[in-house]
Amino acid sequence: MTLAEFVEFVRRQDLARPDVQALAEALRAFGRQRAEIVELLERGVAQVNAYKASCYVLHFESTFTVRLVEWPPGVADTTTVHTHSAPLITYGLSGPGCQTLLHACDPEELRVAQVGDSVGLGESFTNLLAPDTTFFYPTDSLAHAQCLPERYSISLNLILHAALTPQYFINRETRRVTRIRAA
Ligand SMILES: [Fe+2]
Repeated sequence: MTLAEFVEFVRRQDLARPDVQALAEALRAFGRQRAEIVELLERGVAQVNAYKASCYVLHFESTFTVRLVEWPPGVADTTTVHTHSAPLITYGLSGPGCQTLLHACDPEELRVAQVGDSVGLGESFTNLLAPDTTFFYPTDSLAHAQCLPERYSISLNLILHAALTPQYFINRETRRVTRIRAA
């Protein structure tokens, strides 16, 4: 699936009630077109996200973004977990992939939380975004910390803008909300 075909596919979806499975399969089909992705980067079609040098925007429109993210090897700080302001599907494009540390959290509880409040976090579990696999991040029911990969890795993201929520940062030890970024 080419980028143009993928974009058309996403446009035809009801993004207010996304079929995550179908979108993930389509993202995987596009992600397998490595030659086209490399060509897009070489032609300078992708725009570097101004806030994050390792992030390239392959396509942007009002309801969704397709971007590529580079992950250099290293060790990340996992003291704080965060939620996302928009649902995101990610695909392991290259390299061994990133490990993510996750905790289930309660959207209802977060919705009324203020900075300094303690909130419930479920038992931690991990997910490795292995090559050619996908993973779905809902907005406010899964808090996570991104670990860095063992070797250089690249992931491809589809971010849906349909239902933006505030982004919450929670300290894993104290379970307290340390920051809330408005949607
Ligand atoms: Fe994240």
